Amino acid sequence: MNTSQISRRSFVRMSAGAAAVGAAAKAAIANATILQPTSLAAPQDSASDSGRKIRFVSIGTGIRGCDLLRSARTVPTGICVGAADLYSTRLTAAKEAYGADIPTTGDYRTFLDRKDVDAVIIATSDHLHRRVTLDAVAAGKDVYCEKPMSHTVADGFAMVEAVQSGRRIFQAGSQRVSSILYEKARQIYASGRLGQVHFVDAQWNRNSPGGAWVYPIPPDASPQTIDWDRFIQDAPPHPFDPIRFFRWRLFADYGSGLGGDLFVHLLSGMQVITGINAPATRAYSSGGLYHFKDGRDFPDLLETIYDYPSADGGFQLHLHCNQNNADGDERLSFFGSTGTLVVTGRSVTFTPQNVTPQFEGYGWNGMTQAQRQQGMDEWHAAHPTPPPPFDPTGETFSLPKGYDDTAVHISNFFRAIETRQHVVEDEVFGNHAAIGCHLANYSYFHHNVAMWDPATKTIKG
Ligand SMILES: NC(=O)c1ccc[n+]([C@@H]2O[C@H](COP(=O)([O-])OP(=O)(O)OC[C@H]3O[C@@H](n4cnc5c(N)ncnc54)[C@H](O)[C@@H]3O)[C@@H](O)[C@H]2O)c1
Repeated sequence: MNTSQISRRSFVRMSAGAAAVGAAAKAAIANATILQPTSLAAPQDSASDSGRKIRFVSIGTGIRGCDLLRSARTVPTGICVGAADLYSTRLTAAKEAYGADIPTTGDYRTFLDRKDVDAVIIATSDHLHRRVTLDAVAAGKDVYCEKPMSHTVADGFAMVEAVQSGRRIFQAGSQRVSSILYEKARQIYASGRLGQVHFVDAQWNRNSPGGAWVYPIPPDASPQTIDWDRFIQDAPPHPFDPIRFFRWRLFADYGSGLGGDLFVHLLSGMQVITGINAPATRAYSSGGLYHFKDGRDFPDLLETIYDYPSADGGFQLHLHCNQNNADGDERLSFFGSTGTLVVTGRSVTFTPQNVTPQFEGYGWNGMTQAQRQQGMDEWHAAHPTPPPPFDPTGETFSLPKGYDDTAVHISNFFRAIETRQHVVEDEVFGNHAAIGCHLANYSYFHHNVAMWDPATKTIKG
């Protein structure tokens, strides 16, 4: 474990005790702290100067956008001053999620012209993350962009370049990195109690149409209510199709399949716990489309084996998502030489392994009694002092009921805007996690090992 990587990195954290629901949770969210010392440019009308609330607009107010608005309502350090969406009904949904007073529009660019807007929260389909981020950065806004940060490798690097040259705060939207659960797991990992870790297993499974993105098509969906041309502006031309609009995750033109939807959360979690902030060097995927044969581009079972560099000499990450059986749900397991760390959606468990030196009799079973006795005598001569007894005590930590990691993640973003300091899931971190999705999909669709080439910043294979 390279603890210096961790200590250099930004961490936006709150205490476990402060994570309870209600007033205490609100206070804790307001008091989240940031440790990264890099300063970035302030917005035009600096919120940090005035001490006023961070003023943000929400771009894309569908399923996630409305959830973000509901969480943002509980964060006292910011205020939503507008919502934009291409589907007019979702502007009503945004008002219902946050408040009837927020101004709404079909064209987010009208908000970018406003000097009193500090930031944007982007929750559009993946293929528009780049365009909206670049527009927002060009207008001097700080950006919270949903995961996966990029739809392609090139998009990710274009976003990194724009954010850094514009000296903007950027946060990708894998909210688990701000959770006290992941902070607890990071602390256990950094303590060295796992020993050397060379194998990590991560999974996220579902077994329902909704879990496989077969989302409802509302009856009012039509070219009159949806600005289809704007939806497909960075994608190949296609006639209006409500299935493509509401179930965009099924199609490579707009989404990234299991890689972009679920892998990215597990990859971000792995990055924050291990302190590794780099792409995998190699990835190999397999899988298939077994159940949801509805014309989608992506498999409903995907598994990828990655090679990751680490201070211990590297590890294998086996990442798998199945939409045909929900057993196991969400789970990230680190198998170390002296212990195992398992992170689920709501808990962290550390279990030590008994590696106390002992005479191993099994290998002597095919020997004579005399040989076995001699082997035992020699072993005891080489180990004159009895080892300390094994302490099997592990550790378990569970999230408090009602804990909202999205609210904490939003709060951390607002705090970063105020202090002009990086958040942990900044543009570089988010780009590395997204590259993991692209490596997985590249290997799956090319039937080949995907190699990351840092010199050209491209995937080869
Ligand atoms: N962090 C999480 O846990 C989490 C959960 C779900 C989704 N997401 C991410 O959030 C994003 C949105 O997912 P979703 O499920 O809400 O999709 P969705 O289809 O329900 O909503 C997307 C909305 O964006 C709007 N939109 C698209 N382009 C736009 C533009 N140029 N201007 C304004 N509005 C535009 C669409 O009209 C739509 O209403 C995706 O990137 C997804 O991966 C993250």
